[in-house]
Amino acid sequence: MEFEEAARIVEEVPPPHIPASRGQLLYEHIRKNRPENLLELGTARGGSAVFLASALEANGTGHLTTVDSTRWHWKDPTPQEVLEKAGLSHRVTFDKHFSTYTWFLKAEIEKCLNDDGSVRPEYDFIFLDGAKNWSTDGIAVVTMEKLLKPGGWLLLDDLGWNYEKHAADTPFHYEIEIAKLSPEERSEPHLRRIFDLLIRTNPVFDQFVIQDGWWGWARKSPDAGQLASGGVLSGRATDKVGGASSLRRYAGKARRGLRDPRRAAARLTGR
Ligand SMILES: C[S@@+](CC[C@H](N)C(=O)[O-])C[C@H]1O[C@@H](n2cnc3c(N)ncnc32)[C@H](O)[C@@H]1O
Repeated sequence: MEFEEAARIVEEVPPPHIPASRGQLLYEHIRKNRPENLLELGTARGGSAVFLASALEANGTGHLTTVDSTRWHWKDPTPQEVLEKAGLSHRVTFDKHFSTYTWFLKAEIEKCLNDDGSVRPEYDFIFLDGAKNWSTDGIAVVTMEKLLKPGGWLLLDDLGWNYEKHAADTPFHYEIEIAKLSPEERSEPHLRRIFDLLIRTNPVFDQFVIQDGWWGWARKSPDAGQLASGGVLSGRATDKVGGASSLRRYAGKARRGLRDPRRAAARLTGR
């Protein structure tokens, strides 16, 4: 399916969903990089799932698993109805077994545990567009990284979002009582802190791109497998493989990625 058709379908879907301009970046990334196994955290009515699944359809291969919570029910239309109408259901699995996608990720880690205690990564691309809260999304990115294959990309939405500015008209945001948050928790952008403090500091990532202050991309180094049993967040700390010198090597690569964000941005979409 062409991007324009996907955009026409998503235009009919009530919010929340990403705008078509970002849908196009998603679509082009999937077309260019051809990831096979995709994971989305935060389905809502399936808008971004349409962009992802339509690109997979155009590739002629690949599958998306999209996860949401048992706590909220998106209707009129449901995401299943949206994907069915778009003719893309065969590319998508919906998961709504748990109250939070962090528990889904915990179950995935259990599923992917090797006998030697390491985790077998299974996704080529992971898109996080959910709670926008440090406590939920902080643990989410730590577990997401374990499930991401070397060479795969993580994408975080809402880097600039904060409670004070973007949830000013509601006492609760996904069951977080805003009045009970500290002033810093209300004013700081949680996803941006997650990107800077948990992702950029993790040496398994070697490229970073921030678009419009809102989308944060991070690539897991294609060589990260070598680090898998000794990396900071990627495996057993006791293993000898990937000691201090290889950590330093990856940290150097990460810094080089940060210095050249435009080249890295071009690699994302081919533009
Ligand atoms: C902004 S919407 C997602 C929009 C969607 N990605 C799109 O562009 O069409 C955020 C979604 O995250 C879900 N969500 C929020 N916190 C969650 C959690 N802890 N676990 C699972 N889903 C969560 C909400 O139910 C909602 O569907």
